[in-house]
Amino acid sequence: MGDYKLLDFQTLGDERGSLIALEENYNAPFEIKRVYYIFDTKDGVIRGYHAHIKLKQIAIAVKGSCTFVIDNGKSRDEITLDNPNTGLLIEGLIWREMKDFTPDCVLVVLASEHYDENDYIRDYQKFIDLVLKN
Ligand code: TYD
Repeated sequence: MGDYKLLDFQTLGDERGSLIALEENYNAPFEIKRVYYIFDTKDGVIRGYHAHIKLKQIAIAVKGSCTFVIDNGKSRDEITLDNPNTGLLIEGLIWREMKDFTPDCVLVVLASEHYDENDYIRDYQKFIDLVLKN
C-alpha cells in the first residue's frame, strides 16, 4: 500500500535570511531525476487526480500554500503545505489531488523518475483495483 510522510528540512539561516538545501539520498530519500514546479494556479483549480506505479515524490510549498488529498484506497487524509521547510514524501500507490492553492503558491516537486506517462494511473477505479490486488 502507498504511504506518505512529512519531512522536516533544516533551515540554514543568518541575518541575511533563510536557506534550505535538499540532497538526494540524504534529506531527500531517493535519487532525484526530475524537478518541476506548479505556480500561478487559478482560483478553485484542483490538480492531480492520479496515482503512480513506481514514482516517489517530495512536494514542498516554497511559497504560499496548498492542500493535498492523499488517498491510499482505504482512507483519505488532507495535508496542507504552507511552509518551505516541510516536504510531503509520497511513495507507492497513492491517489493524490491538490487544491486550495493560494495565488502566490509555488509548489516544487522532486521526483525519483523522469516523466513517464506509462507510470500514471488516471482512472480512480483502476487505482482501487490495483490497491486490492497488492
Ligand atoms: P499533469 O499531470 O496534468 O499535472 P498535475 O498532475 O500536477 O495536475 O501535467 C500537466 C502537463 O504537463 C501534462 O501535459 C504533462 C506535462 N508534464 C510534463 O511534461 N513533465 C512533467 O514532469 C509533469 C509533471 C507534467
